[in-house]
Amino acid sequence: MASPPYAASPYVLSLLLLLSIPAVFLLAPRLLPPKTLPSIPDADESDDLALFRRAVLLSSTPSKNPSFSSSGAGVFGRRRQQQPKVAFLFLTNSDIVFSPLWEKYFAGNHHLLNLYIHADPSTAAAVAAALTPSFRGHVIVGSKATQRASATLISAARRLLATALLDDPSNHFFALLSQSCIPIHPFPTFYKTLLSDNNKNPQIGRNRNRRRSFIEILDNEPTLHDRYYARGDDVMLPEVPYDSFRVGSQFFVLVRRHAVMVVRDRRLWNKFKMPCLMKRKNSCYPEEHYFPTLLDMQDPQGCTKFTLTRVNWTDSVDGHPHTYLPEEVSGELIRELRKSNGTQSEYMFARKFAPECLKPLMEIADSVILRE
Ligand SMILES: *[C@@H]1O[C@H](CO)[C@@H](O)[C@H](O)[C@H]1NC(C)=O
Ligand SMILES: *[C@@H]1O[C@H](CO)[C@@H](O)[C@H](O)[C@H]1NC(C)=O
Repeated sequence: MASPPYAASPYVLSLLLLLSIPAVFLLAPRLLPPKTLPSIPDADESDDLALFRRAVLLSSTPSKNPSFSSSGAGVFGRRRQQQPKVAFLFLTNSDIVFSPLWEKYFAGNHHLLNLYIHADPSTAAAVAAALTPSFRGHVIVGSKATQRASATLISAARRLLATALLDDPSNHFFALLSQSCIPIHPFPTFYKTLLSDNNKNPQIGRNRNRRRSFIEILDNEPTLHDRYYARGDDVMLPEVPYDSFRVGSQFFVLVRRHAVMVVRDRRLWNKFKMPCLMKRKNSCYPEEHYFPTLLDMQDPQGCTKFTLTRVNWTDSVDGHPHTYLPEEVSGELIRELRKSNGTQSEYMFARKFAPECLKPLMEIADSVILRE
């Protein structure tokens, strides 16, 4: 007896069901929203690794550079050590709108500094073209795209550090700034602050190599808990226990040994580079944690634990601090922004300023900003 045509259907059905299982696995990731924010592209990672390796290698053999040799009498006697330089590291995703102000700030001090710029690849050429000759330092060719709520801002800062380490062995201080930062003291005041700091710390003494980095390091912020778990539960272990997790401003001045430490690190980076969970994206600020955590774990005595860059968090919106508008710019504001809590150095830089502030800032540059 021939089976009726419909008798085959249970088999067909189960076959279809069976076949659909792999299809579900294949398609599901495309149909469901992603569980994490975008991660760092592998190609960017391997480019960076090659750059960082070179920087660390060269930094550990400074005597290869004759102008920097301090290892005593050669044939020509003891060579004079160059004065320490400050590497200004500009992180921008648009342009450097305050470059006329920075130029005034740098004028006459170029023998004590170098400039490095990390611009978004889509604007790097325009940024380079727009800079005047005296500002045209090094636009970093290897810039990569950055975005908020990802570790790309850490990568960009490390790229700047590595490039500056490689470029000039006289770079002793590394000041990270953004396009919305401005100077609020003249350069010589900043330079003096960096050079004189080591005399204030009895534990460190006068040894030039024990100068401290100016980086904010806080361990008691209310958001710390949520930010620690932004990548998932317990994923930071064992490298980063909760008790070692720190927060601080992403804008800092590092001494050379800390710049090398940051560029050499892979252990903590492997944790901090992990993308945040989509559902915790409001707690995702990797660049505010990586540097303070790393330095506090490896050399807490070597850091002042405060930043030289003033920022106004009153009424912050969506993780952005108060942005100053042209009508707020005045000599009084600059003098107010300089003030510290008394126990620490005055602030040397401030953020954030809207691009339209350039004109009023230039008007008070000579009379207030670049005058003591
Ligand atoms: C900080 O920003 C608030 C507005 O968000 C403003 O009222 C206050 O004057 C600012 N403080 C300083 C020191 O500029
Ligand atoms: C100064 O310190 C006090 C207490 O620690 C703090 O509330 C205040 O925000 C600080 N001010 C500045 C300008 O850092």
